Amino acid sequence: MAGVAEFLVFGVTGQQGGAVARALLAEGRKVRGFVRDPHSDKAIALAEEGVELATGDLFDRPSIERAMAGIKGVFSVQTSSPSGRVSDEQEVSQGKAIADSAAATGIKHLVYSSGGAAGKGHTGMGHFDSKSQIEAYIRSLPVPATITRPASFMEMMMLPGMGLNTGNFTFFIRPQQAMQMIALHDLGRINAQILCHPERYAGKTLEISGQSITGDDLQREFSQAAGRIIRYQRFSDDLLASNDFLRKLTELVDNGVVAGSADIPALEREFGPMLTLAQWLSGPGKALFENALNAPETGIALR
Ligand SMILES: NC(=O)c1ccc[n+]([C@@H]2O[C@H](COP(=O)([O-])OP(=O)(O)OC[C@H]3O[C@@H](n4cnc5c(N)ncnc54)[C@H](OP(=O)(O)O)[C@@H]3O)[C@@H](O)[C@H]2O)c1
Repeated sequence: MAGVAEFLVFGVTGQQGGAVARALLAEGRKVRGFVRDPHSDKAIALAEEGVELATGDLFDRPSIERAMAGIKGVFSVQTSSPSGRVSDEQEVSQGKAIADSAAATGIKHLVYSSGGAAGKGHTGMGHFDSKSQIEAYIRSLPVPATITRPASFMEMMMLPGMGLNTGNFTFFIRPQQAMQMIALHDLGRINAQILCHPERYAGKTLEISGQSITGDDLQREFSQAAGRIIRYQRFSDDLLASNDFLRKLTELVDNGVVAGSADIPALEREFGPMLTLAQWLSGPGKALFENALNAPETGIALR
């Protein structure tokens, strides 16, 4: 494939890949985005912003290798089973296919976006343990790689069913229990900086997070941003008893695996200031927050 792009971004029409591609473009770097459908609205919007499109599918290995021609650095991310679009095994095979392709084509730097719960032993949650497997596989290959492990996204709190529209927001943590989170904007610019400086980061694994946030913080900041009281409470015992997925995740928050262990002050020294929840709510998250406040009532839809 001809072209001048330096970086290939997978998942470019999605949350993480989109944030990474836009952060690279903001640095004046040339980006190729891997898309399944170059005619989708998101792909067209990216092309208009300057992203060169490579069409392919993560189940089609030759299309991955073709997209890597002439590329210096690759950003790898996959969807996971809570999305309902892949199994845990498919996530692993897609992550390995990108890594194998990077090795086969002599890519000089692979950045794999894993998850905060990876590398901390078996969790019993398929979409966390899948990431530990992909990490281990990447480390076994002769490809210079950086692994980033993002905390939960602030954006995840805007998914339907958490109660912002009812004035009673529910989430995993207790009112005074802290959990680390990151705004996609920060995730994008940190991974972009890592892609731009392989000599500094290759071989490292970085836990990345922007803020440590309690339930009380959520109540205060959501209420402030909404201009009305939004009460905070942890998911009810009844809900946790009836929903295996949420109960297991809540247990992993309580035992620290999902609560996050990033050294945020060190990250800020390295990458600059992270968005606070208040800044995110009045900036990149404003439209999502307003939609969530005005959404019709529905069930929980976490991923
Ligand atoms: N939510 C959180 O708080 C959180 C925190 C840490 C880690 N994570 C992890 O983040 C990952 C998801 O990242 P995200 O939120 O950026 O995903 P996302 O917004 O759902 O985007 C998924 C991207 O993957 C592309 N894609 C899906 N199947 C593909 C295929 N077969 N071939 C090529 N491209 C394909 C999609 O393209 P199309 O436009 O063609 O669909 C889209 O660009 C998951 O592994 C999740 O576990 C999430």
